[in-house]
Amino acid sequence: MDFYPMIFKRKSFHKFKDIGSISPQELKELESFIANVTPLDSSIKTLIEIVPESATTCRRGAQYCILFYSEEKRNYLNNVGYIGEQIDLYCASKDIGALWFGIGKVKEKQKDGLDYCIMIGIAKVSADSFRKDMFKSKRKPLEEFWSGDPMNIGEIVRFTPSACNTQPWIVENTGEKLLVYRYKKPGKRGIMPILMVKYYNRIDIGIFLLMLEVCLAHEGKAFERELFEDTVGDDVEKILVAEYKLQ
Ligand SMILES: Cc1cc2nc3c(=O)[nH]c(=O)nc-3n(C[C@H](O)[C@H](O)[C@H](O)COP(=O)(O)O)c2cc1C
Repeated sequence: MDFYPMIFKRKSFHKFKDIGSISPQELKELESFIANVTPLDSSIKTLIEIVPESATTCRRGAQYCILFYSEEKRNYLNNVGYIGEQIDLYCASKDIGALWFGIGKVKEKQKDGLDYCIMIGIAKVSADSFRKDMFKSKRKPLEEFWSGDPMNIGEIVRFTPSACNTQPWIVENTGEKLLVYRYKKPGKRGIMPILMVKYYNRIDIGIFLLMLEVCLAHEGKAFERELFEDTVGDDVEKILVAEYKLQ
């Protein structure tokens, strides 16, 4: 599917109101979409399960929560973000509202030997409850995270969602390559404890890479991607996570 128009439509449904019902047919289609998503790293085992919201601590009025379990391997959280954002955008295309819900908990912390990572709450909503003007959403200015030619991409990828809207990314366009970094301003403390910031920001980066690739495809730019290890427990301000060689 063409995810690009959904970047403009999606938003976080922090509280689901006036919801309809996701029909058994829609649920089947969602399951089949999930079974065919493209991972960032296909060597990482993942398991994605759809459960009623009541089976989780989420109380935002969702009908279901999509639970992500993964093997804890190199860059597994980037992989979860990359996969989950495809689901977020797919849901928008079906008038299913979604919410990445980091603070949610589940009873089963492990499933088939895989660890619980995060959930997305979903519910059927009306088409007009989606975003009407993405450019009004609160985000960092382009110059704060993108250097070099923005290529009509920086202006759009700027609206990638992230935990607590932290937007932990930097892009350097050298002309031949896009260098993507995970970035954390030194000393800047938001409302999230530091360990949680590091955890969620790795998911955020996976979401960002998916959005970046959707924008590159839309602009007709072919690329070769190289991923680097996004080390756990580091204290660096800026860490290179991916390089896109433009062709
Ligand atoms: C990894 C991740 C975790 C999030 N966790 C929560 C959460 O626990 N509670 C919540 O209300 N919103 C959560 N959000 C939603 C963000 O607050 C939201 O994406 C951000 O403010 C940008 O707004 P938008 O998604 O409407 O564009 C999360 C988003 C991401 C990407």
